[in-house]
Amino acid sequence: MPETQIAGDLSHTLAQMSAWFAGPKAENGDWFTASLTSIAHDYYSWRRNYFPEDGVIIDSRMRREAEDFQDAFNDRLLELLARLKGDFPFQSPRYAAHMVAEQTLPSIAGYFAAMLYNPNNVSADSAPVTVRLELEACAMIAKMLGYGPESWSHLTSGGTLANIEALWMARTVKYLPLVVADMREQLALPAMPQRSKLEKLHMSPDASLHALAQVFDDAYASFGKSDDTVTRCIRAYVDSPHNIVEQGLARIVRALDSSPVLLVPETHHYCFEKALDTLGIGRGAIRPVAVDAEFRMRVDDLEAVLQRVEDAGDHVLAVVAVVGTTEEGAVDPVNEILRLRSARERAGLGSFWLHADGAYGGYLRTLTIPSRIGLGAPVTTARLNGREVELPLKLPEHSACDALERLGECDSITIDPHKLGYIPYPAGAICFKSNLVKPIARQDAPYIEGAPRDVQYERTSQSIGLYVLEGSKPGAAAAGVWLSHSLIPLDNTGHGVLIRETVRNACELHALLEQYAEHVATPMRAICVCPPGSNIVCYAFMPANNLAPLAQINELNRRLFARFTLEDGQRVYDQRFFVSRTTLAPSRYAAETVAPFLTRLNVTPPAYEHAGGVFLLRSTLMNPWYSPAKKRGRFFLSELVAELFSAAEHEWNEFRSSQPSAAVMTA
Ligand SMILES: Cc1ncc(COP(=O)(O)O)c(C=O)c1O
Repeated sequence: MPETQIAGDLSHTLAQMSAWFAGPKAENGDWFTASLTSIAHDYYSWRRNYFPEDGVIIDSRMRREAEDFQDAFNDRLLELLARLKGDFPFQSPRYAAHMVAEQTLPSIAGYFAAMLYNPNNVSADSAPVTVRLELEACAMIAKMLGYGPESWSHLTSGGTLANIEALWMARTVKYLPLVVADMREQLALPAMPQRSKLEKLHMSPDASLHALAQVFDDAYASFGKSDDTVTRCIRAYVDSPHNIVEQGLARIVRALDSSPVLLVPETHHYCFEKALDTLGIGRGAIRPVAVDAEFRMRVDDLEAVLQRVEDAGDHVLAVVAVVGTTEEGAVDPVNEILRLRSARERAGLGSFWLHADGAYGGYLRTLTIPSRIGLGAPVTTARLNGREVELPLKLPEHSACDALERLGECDSITIDPHKLGYIPYPAGAICFKSNLVKPIARQDAPYIEGAPRDVQYERTSQSIGLYVLEGSKPGAAAAGVWLSHSLIPLDNTGHGVLIRETVRNACELHALLEQYAEHVATPMRAICVCPPGSNIVCYAFMPANNLAPLAQINELNRRLFARFTLEDGQRVYDQRFFVSRTTLAPSRYAAETVAPFLTRLNVTPPAYEHAGGVFLLRSTLMNPWYSPAKKRGRFFLSELVAELFSAAEHEWNEFRSSQPSAAVMTA
């Protein structure tokens, strides 16, 4: 994302952006409250106009008798509202902690409006309107991700469920060529060209899915297109001894004498362990792939791990690329992984299902639509020691865009509207490149709408519930996503401008942390794990003399975290700034991977192992208000960093004075 590719004047869109949210001081609160009131009025009119002649049932006498309940309701509501004030102020630029910020006003309005109707998107029988809205909203998301009209996407409760669903499909598709071979034999159709089981397991996901569709086409050609032919095909599919859906994993593994493994970068989210546990594959099936110093998957290591899997006689269920890692916001080189996959396919080596976990970073792609927007000048203004200074920025590299632009070639993509989509929870989404996965995902229930069991029909069927893991799901979430994405374009004139702001803000925080000591006298240093891959920064404070052992550095940062979050029962109004925390653990990151960071902390690999990792402070910069605030004279990121440094000095002195003198290295 180099400077040369900056789009023209974005200040116009930045001004527009101010109408997308309520604002830190509820600047848009009045008109939005009026809008919410009108939604409620409109909804209650709708109730009244449904057979008005039916007459009222709750008359004024009954309402009077219920006054005690109304009093109790008002009391309890006040209590609830008071308790909610103990929550974190996500809207404020003082909050630089977890992956959460303001939600867009359209998403709240859409959610609120549909919530009153309470549709259940498991089926159009119970949600005729919001099922359609879900399909329309997902079509917008899929297009933004680079998928075409032959894709299949739906909303989920979040990224975890979406990732589980992706692996659920990857698993079924993995063994599909074996099932297809069985079906062909059963139906007396010509055999597949791939002869051995290994050749079949090496087939690409696309080829496997088309092979299944081809069985139906060939059966129609041989036996005529009729319900009877479809039933015969389905029977052959269900009866296949390699059908994992019916037979379960254990039988397939026994038959193949080979086990499935999942290749994920060291940075992967912990939900992949959950997924393997849930799917009965087992967490032991994870094969970690090393990442580089900026926490992006190393494709040379991926190639080596693929080879080791093959040498061990196992087979690859899927490879996961992370687009926006949870700790660093790093974007894996999807383009290079795709290049490796094509090279393997050409060489007759195993292909693999490529899943992109864009739960956090999927919306980064708006920076590239219709063309790369660029990240602006690699410099920013900060206010340090009362003076305005220019700080050079280390902006994420051009290569991130190469990865984002080719996302649409992955077999599946997770993306969370409830993260960088700025939509209320729960709103995740899973998108599949091919809608041919639908027939194999299908689960029938007697009480939800059915669909003919024909591959071509099912590809475009407007049903959701038949093809998803979850059951009941909120139509309100679909309405929220739909209204927001319809109003704020998912491209570099709309959502991309917001994303660009957040990336620049993270780079500013990184620059402030790293360069503070050049501008202000301090005995402390902040060391960032790496420059932000998008809009998350992880860092640790240490004394400037570089002599403290890791246990003491960890203690310092633990104490700092405690000062920058809410203590149990603490009033939020008393807390000036917020950051979150994480741990760089040896169980996830090999010492070689984090060597550059450890060197800067003056920590040896054995010390890293011994201490169980490095306790880190973590700031997700989703808040959109930093640069508008600067125009009004408030430099919140500079203030945050000054407070962090001053708290670090204070905590370090406190810690030193609490220890026997020999135990602490002087700063
Ligand atoms: C990269 C990544 N994947 C998956 C998830 C899980 O998403 P959710 O919390 O919505 O289930 C997260 C959550 O932070 C994430 O960062």
